[in-house]
Amino acid sequence: MLRSWLHRYGGAALCALLAFGAALLGMGDDANAQSTESKEQTKAAEQAPVQQPAPEITGPAKLMPSVRPDFTAIGSEMCGACHPERLELSGTVRHLRILLREEEKGRFGGCEACHGRGSGHLETADPAEIFGSTDTDNSWVGDSCFVCHTNLEREPWLESPHWMSGVTCNDCHSMHEPESGPKLLKYNIAAGEKECDLCFKCHKTSEAPFRAYSHHPVFEGRVTCSDCHNLHDPSVIEVDGSPMMEPCLKCHRDKQPPFAFEHEPVTGDLADGCLTCHISHGSPNQNLLRLPGRALCLQCHTEQAAGHFGGTTCWSNGCHRMVHGSNADPLFFN
Ligand code: HEC
Ligand code: HEC
Ligand code: HEC
Ligand code: HEC
Ligand code: HEC
Ligand code: HEC
Ligand code: HEC
Ligand code: HEC
Ligand code: HEC
Repeated sequence: MLRSWLHRYGGAALCALLAFGAALLGMGDDANAQSTESKEQTKAAEQAPVQQPAPEITGPAKLMPSVRPDFTAIGSEMCGACHPERLELSGTVRHLRILLREEEKGRFGGCEACHGRGSGHLETADPAEIFGSTDTDNSWVGDSCFVCHTNLEREPWLESPHWMSGVTCNDCHSMHEPESGPKLLKYNIAAGEKECDLCFKCHKTSEAPFRAYSHHPVFEGRVTCSDCHNLHDPSVIEVDGSPMMEPCLKCHRDKQPPFAFEHEPVTGDLADGCLTCHISHGSPNQNLLRLPGRALCLQCHTEQAAGHFGGTTCWSNGCHRMVHGSNADPLFFN
């Protein structure tokens, strides 16, 4: 690493750089020696051509965010000179490995693809001159990602409940920690964790329903939270104001209209579609039903409350078995 860095930027720059970094970090214990030393260093820094022409970078990294438009790229190895542990650790994170490898080929921007062009920060080592902290303003995080991840869009993301509550990409995806789950998700497969464990870290109250009598098998590993929830836009729980049907039909194809005889609440023309009768996470009633037995149907069919067959449910004993719609019978008997 160091050798190719030296080859590219020259020894003088390295000395100036390291000295400068040391000065800034207040290294050295003798105050006097330090002050003479840093004078010399400042001199060296002035003389040394610290700002080398940036390595030619093509592709998306050309658009990468910049604190100031006049800043130029300095290359990841430069960052590594002052942040060696970060550069070293990058070898253990697939995402960063890819970005660094692409940078070698002159394509992406390595560290600077996310943190922004570094020439200003190189000169001053001032944290304000580089995108970095997520404590105060984390908007740089997403902005840097959208440059390459063009299948995601910025506008809908800015309206998602996560972003609106200050949660951003690196709360779910690991950037510098060694990868664990697929899609760089922050959960530990080796420790037996699943995607839902990541979500439950913040959504503690969502956990209990998945242990209810009837529930979607999330703990069992057969369904994931993201099968239903789109995490990158406002459709997190609904689309255009009505609760999502699409995900349900993706897996439960036999409930997909059209049927010769349709049941309006199921098609979503009336009420909340599937969620008129079902709870999505878990329910104490069989089949994830909102209400047990007849009460479910009597929500709407009030005229059937009296003088109609009085069984415990309306779909047992061979009655309205095909309550989702039927191709044979207008009363959904079969
Ligand atoms: C001359 C040495 C030097 C170089 C070169 C350097 N940094 Fe820094 N960097 C520092 C110092 C010093 C700090 C402030 C101390 C700290 O927070 O660790 C800092 C802080 C940061 C921070 C934290 C910013 C914040 O707001 O909290 C990030 C991120 C960062 N550097 C990234 C980079 C990247 C990316 C590069 C390469 C483009 C780079 N640095 C190159 C010295 C350097
Ligand atoms: C894919 C985007 C991405 C790349 C590439 C990347 N980083 Fe980061 N970096 C982040 C994010 C996001 C954070 C803030 C939260 C975190 O640690 O995940 C961060 C945090 C940091 C910090 C700590 C800032 C603080 O909070 O004190 C430093 C230093 C840093 N990165 C340096 C580097 C260096 C050096 C490289 C190249 C080897 C690099 N980063 C590559 C996204 C990236
Ligand atoms: C310079 C381009 C670039 C930037 C910037 C970038 N990425 Fe990536 N990202 C990639 C590439 C390339 C891959 C690898 C795709 C693959 O494995 O096929 C990737 C993969 C990923 C994956 C894993 C996808 C999968 O299918 O496993 C996630 C998650 C991801 N990036 C999130 C982020 C986040 C969050 C940021 C911003 C902090 C970011 N990326 C910034 C280029 C980039
Ligand atoms: C609340 C958690 C969460 C947040 C916040 C989040 N993601 Fe994701 N992301 C996920 C989950 C879960 C998946 C896997 C399921 C999927 O593909 O939708 C994923 C998948 C991805 C993928 C891979 C998608 C693919 O098509 O392969 C990329 C890239 C990605 N996220 C980038 C981002 C970026 C960039 C941000 C910030 C703008 C972000 N994510 C914010 C949870 C999150
Ligand atoms: C870092 C904490 C954090 C993580 C991790 C997280 N969320 Fe969230 N999530 C929030 C916050 C904060 C909100 C907005 C406030 C609220 O509605 O609870 C939110 C909102 C939501 C909403 C919308 C709730 C509503 O009432 O509109 C859904 C759905 C959701 N998250 C699902 C997920 C899923 C699925 C995951 C895992 C892939 C996840 N979240 C991971 C913090 C998090
Ligand atoms: C089968 C689809 C599906 C799965 C799987 C799913 N959700 Fe939901 N979730 C929904 C729907 C639909 C809503 C809208 C509320 C409702 O049920 O009426 C919702 C609502 C939410 C809310 C808003 C608050 C609430 O409880 O009403 C949060 C938070 C949430 N889900 C988190 C999660 C988490 C975390 C997981 C994974 C452990 C998960 N969801 C799995 C479909 C699903
Ligand atoms: C990723 C696929 C998937 C999605 C999306 C999905 N489900 Fe399921 N659903 C399942 C699986 C798997 C089961 C368990 C089936 C079993 O145990 O045989 C299930 C079971 C059910 C059950 C029966 C529960 C029981 O106790 O027997 C109902 C009702 C149901 N889902 C409704 C819905 C609704 C409503 C939605 C949309 C909010 C939805 N599903 C979305 C996969 C999915
Ligand atoms: C009018 C109320 C109602 C609506 C709306 C409804 N269901 Fe059901 N659903 C039921 C009832 C009642 C049962 C139990 C049927 C039984 O035990 O035979 C059931 C059972 C199920 C089951 C488990 C048994 C099976 O047949 O596989 C699934 C899965 C299911 N519904 C999915 C859906 C989906 C997906 C939607 C939306 C497209 C939906 N339901 C809309 C009332 C409804
Ligand atoms: C959200 C309201 C709603 C719920 C809940 C509901 N239905 Fe319906 N159902 C309707 C509507 C609207 C029609 C259309 C015909 C009408 O009544 O005018 C209909 C039609 C029917 C029909 C066709 C006969 C007819 O009157 O046209 C049967 C049978 C039926 N429903 C049975 C059930 C059963 C069994 C349940 C409980 C599992 C149920 N419904 C739950 C609203 C509902």
